Amino acid sequence: MNILVTGANGQLGNEMRIISQGSADNYIFTDVNEVEGVQTTFLDIADLEAVRLAVAQNNVNVIVNCAAYTNVDAAETNEAISEKLNATAPENLAIAIKEANGLLVQISTDYVFGKEPYNTPCKEDQKGTPTGVYGLTKLHGEEKILATGCKHAIIRTAWLYSEFGKNFCKTMLNLTSPASVEARIAAGKPAGLKVVFDQVGTPTYAYDLAKAISVIVDDYKNEANEDIYSKSGIYHYSNEGVCSWYDFTKMIAQIAGQTECDVQPCHSNEFPSPVTRPSYSVLDKTKIKSTFGIDVPYWVDSLKVCIENLKK
Ligand SMILES: NC(=O)c1ccc[n+]([C@@H]2O[C@H](COP(=O)([O-])OP(=O)(O)OC[C@H]3O[C@@H](n4cnc5c(N)ncnc54)[C@H](OP(=O)(O)O)[C@@H]3O)[C@@H](O)[C@H]2O)c1
Repeated sequence: MNILVTGANGQLGNEMRIISQGSADNYIFTDVNEVEGVQTTFLDIADLEAVRLAVAQNNVNVIVNCAAYTNVDAAETNEAISEKLNATAPENLAIAIKEANGLLVQISTDYVFGKEPYNTPCKEDQKGTPTGVYGLTKLHGEEKILATGCKHAIIRTAWLYSEFGKNFCKTMLNLTSPASVEARIAAGKPAGLKVVFDQVGTPTYAYDLAKAISVIVDDYKNEANEDIYSKSGIYHYSNEGVCSWYDFTKMIAQIAGQTECDVQPCHSNEFPSPVTRPSYSVLDKTKIKSTFGIDVPYWVDSLKVCIENLKK
């Protein structure tokens, strides 16, 4: 199979590169940026004709779309670009892959939920109630893909982190380090950190998500020549368990052995933000586990693996 990965130089895209090593399939890694030392083919997913050409020239069977506009705060003032990358561009991919009778794996987000005060894990068929532009445009992307009628697996994930790019885990590893504590003291700032405890979800190690995607792609091979993929649908994937950003930070510091940094819980309103984030966006993963037999690691176990890799 020929598998085209978009946004291949982002967090998830890089994990897809790792997962592809040793695979019998042919992967084509694309992005709009270049990273030294890795092979990247230029592909702007906002350009429908360029997408069509890439799919035709490479005889693509599966697109894994790791590209998106992912800056949740900046999306509030950049609605047009967010809509273009999170909704119109996935529609382009859906149109092109439908013409090739292939599968589109789209990555969506827990932030399609949140406006309603849920306190039980969100299911796939639950109505989307985004709190901000990012979640709304990702929801539009899902709707546009479904409207094309292409074969699809739309995977909503949450709180993604990895060894690559910028993410919460790497930020907190830095901020809880002895050097950062000393720097804050030297600057006359509080030595400790406050982190919100009133936003609850589940972290996801991007490597685990990439593995889950590879299971779905392998499953699809059996039906690759059919016009309908019987497992087309929306799925939820995060790691197992539940925590707040405060708990996540405490665990990052504990695993890294940086317990001298005093981390205290606080409310979201102590950190003015352009967007209100969901207070509860835990995803129910029953469907992806039962449909594909995917094993989901506990979030603390995966966090240990990532921090260990970062230390190397
Ligand atoms: N990060 C999270 O916490 C989180 C949570 C839930 C869901 N998700 C979803 O998970 C997926 C992967 O997220 P991620 O964190 O791995 O994203 P990421 O690190 O921000 O990577 C996205 C990649 O897409 C590229 N890109 C931007 N515009 C493009 C275009 N027009 N054509 C092709 N590529 C383009 C970016 O390039 P530039 O860097 O040059 O712009 C970047 O390399 C996304 O769909 C995201 O919405 C993420």
